Amino acid sequence: VHTTAAGFGKERMTIIAHRGASGDAPEHTIAAYQLAVEQGADYIELDLHMTKDRQLIAIHDDTLDRTTNGSGKVHAFTLAEIKQLDAGSWFNHKYPGKAQPYYHGQTIPTLAEVINHYGKSINYYIEIKKPQQTPKMADELLRVLRQQQLIGKRTGPADRGKIIIESFHPDSLKYLRHKAPELLLIQLGEDAAEMKLAEIAQYADGVGPNFSTLNEEFVKLAHRHGLLVHCWTVNSETAMIKLNSWNVDGIFTNYVKIARKHVGKH
Ligand code: G3P
Ligand code: CA
Repeated sequence: VHTTAAGFGKERMTIIAHRGASGDAPEHTIAAYQLAVEQGADYIELDLHMTKDRQLIAIHDDTLDRTTNGSGKVHAFTLAEIKQLDAGSWFNHKYPGKAQPYYHGQTIPTLAEVINHYGKSINYYIEIKKPQQTPKMADELLRVLRQQQLIGKRTGPADRGKIIIESFHPDSLKYLRHKAPELLLIQLGEDAAEMKLAEIAQYADGVGPNFSTLNEEFVKLAHRHGLLVHCWTVNSETAMIKLNSWNVDGIFTNYVKIARKHVGKH
């Protein structure tokens, strides 16, 4: 039985929509999140950066250049300035076969906007991209989550797993464990072989290695340490099928629809 969305007691792999349904829509826009939800994602992933006026927004890069019609560092602009930018047209130009008229004019969403939009109806997988800005970003993240009643007094057991926080940086995770122990935490890593599982198990609930560095033994070992394994970024059908057969708990993917088709029961 699927007891929580995070993968405990699950029957199949958890599907995390990497930057939304980013294979089919402009990443980190409401259009991409909505498509991910419609395609059946268990989580939508949001990478966070902070604006000049300390608002948390969903964007992967620390610059505006690749995914908007603006340019420069995210932290050099206010939210009002960033809201003027078109975060969808680049996708239509780059992928004419997948272009949609309504992608034009999509804006960069704030974390609060996304959560306001979906409330508790979906699950969120959130990465703080700038560890040097912890605790500033982490505190603001917690404030938004509290305000939206996703953590804190008004939450209950059913809310466990609704938010997962991921980071490459142990200090960010340790800070969050201390401040909000109810949050599920995933330690990301570039290379599974270099992840110190016993150490990670002291402050996190799972590991998120690059899938191409993974083998079945690692998955077993992580499970023996009580850690979930959520790996990134899995876009090929063959890899999805293989990882599922290894009992991997979840995958980040740009192609939720393909993942849905392929992850079966363990
Ligand atoms: O967060 C897992 C994966 O998304 C890490 O890569 O660069 O897409 O954030 P990136
Ligand atoms: Ca990420």
